[in-house]
Amino acid sequence: MDKFVIRGGKTLSGTVQISGAKNALLALMPATILAPGSYTIHNSPILRDITTMSRLLESMGISTSHKDHAIALNSSKLTSFEAPYEHVKKMRASVYVLGPLVARYGQAHVSLPGGCAWGPRPVNLHIEGLRKLGAEINIDAGYIIAKAKRLKGARIVFDVSSVGATGNVMMAAVLAKGTTVIDNAAMEPEITALGEFLVKMGAKIHGVGTNHLEIEGVDELRPADFTTIPDRIEAGTFLTAAALAGKRGKKVRLEKCNPRHLTAVTTKLEDAGAKLTLGSDFIEIEPPEEIQPVNVTTSIYSGFPTDMQAQWIALMSLASGTSVVTETIYTDRFMHVPELSRLGANINVKENVATIVGVEKLTGAKVMSTDLRASASLILAGLVANGTTEVLRVYHLDRGYEAIEKKLASLGADIKREAGEEF
Ligand code: UD1
Repeated sequence: MDKFVIRGGKTLSGTVQISGAKNALLALMPATILAPGSYTIHNSPILRDITTMSRLLESMGISTSHKDHAIALNSSKLTSFEAPYEHVKKMRASVYVLGPLVARYGQAHVSLPGGCAWGPRPVNLHIEGLRKLGAEINIDAGYIIAKAKRLKGARIVFDVSSVGATGNVMMAAVLAKGTTVIDNAAMEPEITALGEFLVKMGAKIHGVGTNHLEIEGVDELRPADFTTIPDRIEAGTFLTAAALAGKRGKKVRLEKCNPRHLTAVTTKLEDAGAKLTLGSDFIEIEPPEEIQPVNVTTSIYSGFPTDMQAQWIALMSLASGTSVVTETIYTDRFMHVPELSRLGANINVKENVATIVGVEKLTGAKVMSTDLRASASLILAGLVANGTTEVLRVYHLDRGYEAIEKKLASLGADIKREAGEEF
């Protein structure tokens, strides 16, 4: 398994291009099940999770080819309605095939995702939503077995705002008979992108981008092309890297991003003392003279994203005081804390609250990636730690950051990918 070897202390400056959003693409690709034919999705990042989704769709008879950051898919002939455990265990977002399969083909056999590195991640809301639309769903031998003749519009109020459940139910409702109303729908930009894609395919959805969706089911949809939105979490990660490892007077410029999707993060970075310039599709950042302690509480969009919590803790580890980070989406999501502590961070976690006492310096060590965003926080810490940091098991990073080491190196970081030890 590869590792990253980072020699800390280099100043970041220059320009970096932000890739397309992984989490948008993971919802867009299964949507092609809804209407047979050819699609091209532009601005598609080259990532392990996208390859996993391609393999899953291929196993169902959909052809895919990824070239020059465009994915061509052809869903003319489905040969299987199954998402086997082998795929779903690699990536929970595989469950996105459930809604489209039931809506278009009246049957789906999808492995239950199970837990993840930071605790349980249920899919009850996906199942309850589809049941409301009339799908008959049983759980058998670890699989969700769903059947339906034609789904029927229904009124759904999610108890919890869920990105995945909103995406799944929205993809099912577009082909249902009658109108579906979804309240407490997720408003994350990735779900808005899915809504826009479905509308381009001929779906009738009112309220795209809001938490109240009204979907008039149609008899059929048609294929469409689409351009994926920029990855706001990748952008937020690079902004945080610049805030940590930049230098006053030297700018890091992010291009091909969408600053409107990042307000919660950019505002907090300003509170921490960074200077930011926001354009229509770029952000420039100069780091703080001294990182100010800033509390954050993760929340649904447009609040501070849980996917930026680990990176924020890395930043706060070097703040000039004490800050508090409260995780409300995934209350156990603190796998990065013991690893950051190995680098010298002073963090105390009690239930879902991390208290971070800023330290003067971090010191390089070997640390272990446990999940995607946790690994990103270790890289950020490694960029400023004294000496050498080795981040092991970087396959987690390859799931969600396209060529992160090359992008960081182009900004001046000393980071190399090397063959790591086996575990
Ligand atoms: C998506 C993102 C993930 C991000 C998360 C929250 C993708 C592929 N992944 O994950 O990176 O961290 O949104 O922004 O887009 N819940 C239930 N029952 C369900 C579904 C969810 O109780 O059936 C709960 C979860 O435990 C969690 C909350 O709802 O507490 C939000 O989860 P959700 O928005 O569904 O996250 P994902 O779609 O899995």
